[in-house]
Amino acid sequence: MNTLETIMGRKSNRAFNGEAVERGVLEQIAKAGVAAPAGMGKAIYVTVVTNPDAVAAINTATKQVMMNSGVEALVKMGSDPDRVPLYNAPVAVLVSAQTVEDPQGASNNLSNCAAAAENVVLAATDLGLASVYVTSPTLAFHVPGMKEKCGIADDQTVHAIVALGYSDDKAPAVKHINEANIKFVE
Ligand SMILES: Cc1cc2nc3c(=O)[nH]c(=O)nc-3n(C[C@H](O)[C@H](O)[C@H](O)COP(=O)(O)O)c2cc1C
Repeated sequence: MNTLETIMGRKSNRAFNGEAVERGVLEQIAKAGVAAPAGMGKAIYVTVVTNPDAVAAINTATKQVMMNSGVEALVKMGSDPDRVPLYNAPVAVLVSAQTVEDPQGASNNLSNCAAAAENVVLAATDLGLASVYVTSPTLAFHVPGMKEKCGIADDQTVHAIVALGYSDDKAPAVKHINEANIKFVE
């Protein structure tokens, strides 16, 4: 696939078939993540979680935070017994950066993690995997012990997660490109 085909062929896929993803494939995807551009030279960390207990804990902790949030929409999502925040994906790729207080640093870290997460979904697409970029399961890392369980340093914030795996859904991506959102100033 060339780059533009990969971009146009990417779609959020939430139907994983449970097949394990090979370690070599995950290594290529992780390298694509940390190869992303990074403002202010800030480091981006990519943590590939395949341990089933850790993946299950992210799902459980996310719903726990949702239920205790006091936000009606989140409480509803957290209480839904059918809701699995990582959609039964066998792999959760956590994208994190050091937690910083200064607004410029925080903004860069968020952007850096978004760039890395996009590289991860594009690499996954190119390698024939299904993926979905998710932020709601980052809520899990507000639960004490979750960072340690998932290999995240205490001084880091998980800004993005990519759930990935194989899928039997091979339907092509349907893109809704809003041409009105594109402008040329010539
Ligand atoms: C920053 C960001 C956060 C997202 N968070 C979630 C999420 O928590 N759960 C989810 O199912 N999808 C999430 N998505 C996926 C979007 O729903 C999806 O990209 C959008 O519907 C467009 O569909 P497409 O990815 O197939 O083009 C997120 C996407 C982005 C970019």
